[in-house]
Amino acid sequence: MGAVLLVVGGGVAAYKACEVARLLAKAGAQVRPVLTHGAARFVSPMTFGSLVGAGAHADLWAQPMAHIDLARGLHAVLVAPATADLMARMAHGLADDLATTALLAVPGGVPVWAAPAMNPAMWAHPATQANVALLKGRGVRLVGPDDGATACGEAGLGRMAEPEVITAAVLGRGPLAGRRAVVTSGPTWEAVDPVRVLANRSSGMQGHAVARALAAAGAQVVLVTGPVALADPPGVAEVRRVESAQQMLGAVLDALPADIFVGAAAVADWAPEARADKVHKAEGPPSLRFTQTLDIVAAVAGAQPRPALVVAFAAETDAQALLPRAAQKRAAKGADWVVANLVGPGVGIGAARNAVTLMDGRDAESWPEMDKHDVAQRLADKAARFLKDSAA
Ligand code: C5P
Repeated sequence: MGAVLLVVGGGVAAYKACEVARLLAKAGAQVRPVLTHGAARFVSPMTFGSLVGAGAHADLWAQPMAHIDLARGLHAVLVAPATADLMARMAHGLADDLATTALLAVPGGVPVWAAPAMNPAMWAHPATQANVALLKGRGVRLVGPDDGATACGEAGLGRMAEPEVITAAVLGRGPLAGRRAVVTSGPTWEAVDPVRVLANRSSGMQGHAVARALAAAGAQVVLVTGPVALADPPGVAEVRRVESAQQMLGAVLDALPADIFVGAAAVADWAPEARADKVHKAEGPPSLRFTQTLDIVAAVAGAQPRPALVVAFAAETDAQALLPRAAQKRAAKGADWVVANLVGPGVGIGAARNAVTLMDGRDAESWPEMDKHDVAQRLADKAARFLKDSAA
């Protein structure tokens, strides 16, 4: 375990950062604590000095080039608590104190973790969410925030994740460490002839976000994706690119066994009988004959050994029929959970946000509309709890 730059923001959760520092040092990390001016009002640099054997740095002007020295030879960076202000400064590349200057001097390729902590309204504010999206887009990995009571007396998403959870994430020992996951994402393309395909509007955003969240939780992830215009998600062990439903099925079965399977791809339900030569205009509009594709989720749910957790997605356009149809699909495919989502303006297929209901055969849990990364994060958290409980 190498050096960890621990940047402590100015929030009341700074007291929990002391425990994070202690746990990291106990695991053998060389902790380099840096406090913002706000953080130094909540906790003392001396506290860190006593806990990790290295005094905390706070002053940009105390020592020339301290920000460069702090940012070299790092195993990881952790920002905890990541306050709304600190995340805004990180997102926009400001460098007006030692903490942000050191963060900007961190070379690419060093994993950066942030553990947000703030009032739930501040977390939900579009300004914060826009900054979070910028940071995530740049590869910053978030741990938390958790749902629950915050120091300001309000409840909701905003509590900093527990020190043990943060430490495990940074050390690569997340709640899904040692687990293997296979995720499908994107659309499939079904050939009509050598130049034409039947496709759908899936962007792959939700499936890619799920793959990324499972990887961030420590799982070894194989992502099987149809054609998408997205970068490979960070942390994913392997990306297998396919076009058709049949190829996707083959790649998925080949990637098994796994502990978790998430079928987030919008797989074609029918494939046309493809013509060997290009269909010509002069022939007039072609009539297509379709065959039914095999259901990948059902195949995985019936595989031996079967993943302990099989998750399907169900997209519908009719709000009334959404939940009954999703429940039917869960049962018909033999999945453990189904994530039901309505497709409409701004949500679902092709959009960055999703409003989903998670159904496990007993309960239907409706989540508020949120960014697809947050849906993925919640799903990964729930999957980790499910596997832990089923092992107990
Ligand atoms: O039945 P429907 O296609 O609406 O179900 C959607 C769910 O089933 C998604 O999880 C999708 O990935 C999966 N699916 C599949 N194989 C197919 C069709 C859908 O795995 N051939």
